[in-house]
Amino acid sequence: GGLPNQEQVVELDASFMDGDTLDIGAIGGIRDFANPISIARALSKEHYNNFLVGEGAEKYASLHGFERKTMLTQRAKKHYEKRKKATLDQGLSPYSGHDTVGMVALDVHGKMCVGTSTSGLFMKRPGRIGDSPIPGSGYYVDSHVGGACATGLGEDVMKGCATYEIVRLMKDGLTPQEACEKVVNDLEQTLLKRKGIVGDLSFVAMDCLGNWGVATNIPEFSFVVATKNLPATVYLSKRVDGHCIHTLASKEWLEAYEKRIRMPL
Ligand code: GLY
Repeated sequence: GGLPNQEQVVELDASFMDGDTLDIGAIGGIRDFANPISIARALSKEHYNNFLVGEGAEKYASLHGFERKTMLTQRAKKHYEKRKKATLDQGLSPYSGHDTVGMVALDVHGKMCVGTSTSGLFMKRPGRIGDSPIPGSGYYVDSHVGGACATGLGEDVMKGCATYEIVRLMKDGLTPQEACEKVVNDLEQTLLKRKGIVGDLSFVAMDCLGNWGVATNIPEFSFVVATKNLPATVYLSKRVDGHCIHTLASKEWLEAYEKRIRMPL
C-alpha cells in the first residue's frame, strides 16, 4: 500500500536503472497496480517510451499483465482521515510524511542497478510527480562508478539533481559517504540561503566496489545493508557537525518501530 493524495487516491511513482547499459525505466502517477517497480523495470528494456505517466502507464501495465491491486489500505485511509481533519479542513499545510523506498545493488559480476518506489508526498495534489521517477534526482547508477537513491521532499531533491551529483562526486574520487554528506550539506545550505527553507533530504549510495554511504538532514534516518557476509541489518544515521554517524538499530528500537507501524490509529 501507500499514502494517498489529496483526493484519497494512491498514485505511485517508481524507477529502475541498469548501471551497465544506463537504461532507465520509470512510471509516474500510476493507480491500482501492485508492484510499480516491476513495471518500471519492464520499461527499462524498451527502446523508446521508457518513462510513462498516468493513464499511459496503466495501459502499458495492463497490456503486459501486471497485477492490478487497490493500494489504499484501511490503515492509510484512517491516517488520511485523521490528517485531513488536522490540516486540510483547517486550511493548514498537510505536507509532512512520505514513504519512499530506494535501493542500490551490486552483484558478483560487478553489475549495479538502482530502483525507487513511492506513493510520494502524503496528500499531494493529484498528478504531482516527485523525484523518485526522475533520473539524476531520485536515482542514478553507473556500474563503472556507483549508484545512489534519494528519499525526502522530492521538490527539494530535484533542485540539486542530487543522485547524479553523488555519482559524479564518487567518479571524482570521493567515497560514497563523503559524496552523500557533501550533497546533503551543500543542497541544504544553498536552499536555506536562497529560500530560507529546506525539506527532508536523505541519500543512500554505494560505489562499484561495494563501499556504501548514507547521509541525511533529518534527526534519525533508518536504512538497511545486506552483503555476502552480513544478513539484512538495520542501521540508524544521525548528523553530528556535518557528518553522519551510523549505529546498529537496537533490539528495542526495532521492537518500538514494529509496534508503531502496527499500532491502531
Ligand atoms: N521523495 C519522494 C517524493 O517526494 O515524491
